Amino acid sequence: MTTWIILGGTSTIARVFARSAAERGEGVILAGRDLDDLNASAADCAARGAPVAEAVAFDARDRKSILGIVERARTLDAFSVAVFVGSMPPQDQIDAEPALIEGTVTDSFTGPAECLTRLAPLMEAHGKGTVVGVGSVAGDRGRVGNYVYGAAKAGFHAYLSGLRNRLGRKGVHVVTVKPGTVDTAMTWGLDKLPFLAQPDKIVSDIFRAVDRKRDVIYTPIIWWPVMTVIRAIPERIFKKMSI
Ligand SMILES: NC(=O)c1ccc[n+]([C@@H]2O[C@H](COP(=O)([O-])OP(=O)(O)OC[C@H]3O[C@@H](n4cnc5c(N)ncnc54)[C@H](OP(=O)(O)O)[C@@H]3O)[C@@H](O)[C@H]2O)c1
Repeated sequence: MTTWIILGGTSTIARVFARSAAERGEGVILAGRDLDDLNASAADCAARGAPVAEAVAFDARDRKSILGIVERARTLDAFSVAVFVGSMPPQDQIDAEPALIEGTVTDSFTGPAECLTRLAPLMEAHGKGTVVGVGSVAGDRGRVGNYVYGAAKAGFHAYLSGLRNRLGRKGVHVVTVKPGTVDTAMTWGLDKLPFLAQPDKIVSDIFRAVDRKRDVIYTPIIWWPVMTVIRAIPERIFKKMSI
């Protein structure tokens, strides 16, 4: 039995993840910016069987809140971490106001990475637990439509790869999750989304990967062949495409 520290607990996918964890008999500490919302989710998780179910303040742009998470984690016997934090401003807004780059990268990469790096020594000391890091297929190749978000996710993927190498030596497993398009608050209002998946599909794939100790997954699996093809397109052709 583990207790999941869930960064980005208000995310549409994280809500389903927390409910599933509760139904597996696992604890949940829901970390995010909207404490009222998180407390309501925690109550739901407690009703579904979570032995620990609580909300804590977390803002990826606020180091003090990251340190608060680490202090809470210090009091746990053993724990796992799942990262669902991310923000994706439209690329045309970023092009018009490049100052938005900093927040996008902090939300989707450096804030969660700082938190994980501060939690890593505790996990190493326990010698068990899992880190789930939600990246994106957008991180596999820079596209004209969302290359700043994609760059942040690419950075997060590389970070998770190194963290897996580090923590794997101490018995802690790191899973990188690369979803395609998912029907969540992040994509509501966007049209022409290929292979749109529901959050419960993403979450069942995540738990299968956790239980089977997979390193990197595409979810749904259709994105594995799709991204294999997209990664193979020569840059001189890709630079003229608008996919
Ligand atoms: N939806 C997709 O098509 C898709 C595809 C690939 C990957 N993903 C990734 O999946 C993960 C979950 O996203 P989602 O689809 O469930 O969308 P979502 O509902 O919009 O979730 C995004 C989450 O990030 C949190 N967040 C953003 N900035 C934050 C900050 N500075 N500090 C703390 N929390 C912050 C949001 O909190 P607030 O509620 O406080 O805003 C929310 O909980 C994200 O990492 C996203 O990049 C999504």
